[in-house]
Amino acid sequence: MLPNRSEFPEGFVFGAATAAYQIEGSAFGNAGPSHWDTFAATPGNIADDSSGARACDHYRLWETDLDLMRDAGFDAYRFSTSWARVMPDGRTVNPEGLDFYDRLVDGMLARGLQPFLTLYHWDLPAALADRGGWRNRDVASWFADHARVVHARLGDRVASTATLNEPWCIAWLSHFLGHHAPGMRDIRAASRAMHHVLLAHGTAIQALRAEGARDLGVVLNFETAHPADDSPEAAAAATTQDAIYNQWFIRALMGQGYPQAALDGIGPYLPDGWQDDMPRIAAPLDWLGVNYYTRVLHRHRPGLWPNAAPVPGPLAKTQMGWEIRPEGLTEFLVRLARDHTGDLPLHVTENGMALEPGLDMTDDAARVAFIGDHLRAARAALDQGVNLRGFFYWSLLDNYEWAFGYGPRFGLVHVDYRTMRRTPKASWQAFRRMLTA
Ligand code: FCB
Repeated sequence: MLPNRSEFPEGFVFGAATAAYQIEGSAFGNAGPSHWDTFAATPGNIADDSSGARACDHYRLWETDLDLMRDAGFDAYRFSTSWARVMPDGRTVNPEGLDFYDRLVDGMLARGLQPFLTLYHWDLPAALADRGGWRNRDVASWFADHARVVHARLGDRVASTATLNEPWCIAWLSHFLGHHAPGMRDIRAASRAMHHVLLAHGTAIQALRAEGARDLGVVLNFETAHPADDSPEAAAAATTQDAIYNQWFIRALMGQGYPQAALDGIGPYLPDGWQDDMPRIAAPLDWLGVNYYTRVLHRHRPGLWPNAAPVPGPLAKTQMGWEIRPEGLTEFLVRLARDHTGDLPLHVTENGMALEPGLDMTDDAARVAFIGDHLRAARAALDQGVNLRGFFYWSLLDNYEWAFGYGPRFGLVHVDYRTMRRTPKASWQAFRRMLTA
């Protein structure tokens, strides 16, 4: 069961989220190739050898999808613009791309949905990847130019703008662990990306403020890191993991400097003079987005830093193999407010679960329970004084789940990838009952 809407404060925003590459179809509308298109074209990178070329065909079916948002009673829609669609070579504007987002934003407003824009959800133009992508310091000015272009077209109508989605994934998952585009495994590349991603954020915030933009934020992901056993070594592994994942970005953004436990390994590879960039990175924000899915146990891994390796935990898991632990959401929200953000407005910008194909259509009860438990966890943070303003489910639709391809189904709405038919699941109905009661 989902809680009643009346248990949340007046004005609390309920929404669902998507991302451009996961739903639109990158082959349509004269978008340029992104590093995700080329990463997906390389054998072994994606579980089912698929790409986002067609995805959910949202480029054509966006009106149907916005109707589904409206009919569920949502207040807001979190979407992203694709950099490669707006600027196919990373620098030159594709009018067709901007026109698409213009129609989309008008479509949201026509349906009473507040547009929550994210400027980068991972589709870096391939031409910029050729120039080093997130490893190249110039990415900061490229991204700021891109932000200005999108703001000039949409800024008069969006309710809020996030620069980046999940810098940890952009930098560490993609350049150190190699799971996402560009699929690198190199500590120098990763360390530079860890810094440049923040520099790009700060540079874009400055550029947007200069244009008079308001309601600016960024979306970070958080994952509970617990030691896998009682040894001091496992405790140290969890501490290091927590520093890289959960503290690196928020500390820098709040002017608290990079955490020492992460600098121990990353510091030697940072670009010269990185300290001088920290004030720009800490440019004031209007809100922070929090993505939360799971907890991971870490054991000591002998050898090279960071000396941590994940081990499967004992809790019930989603289709992704991710442990279900709702109290982690409360813990992060409380910890953020206490240690970093104070009274800054927070939004849960992503939370959700994948269920096995088939199972989710016949029995979506597990997803409804998951959502209810996490909404109550968000409510608990409000009770503890956290300035939480909204909750967005990931995702409106089943979609392209990156390196996992089309297997995992996170949607409130089922997508038949052959016919592109959309079918609301029990979880969509549950939101509708909650939000339109
Ligand atoms: C987040 C991503 C989103 C989706 C969910 C499951 O890390 O932001 O695109 O992949 O995980």
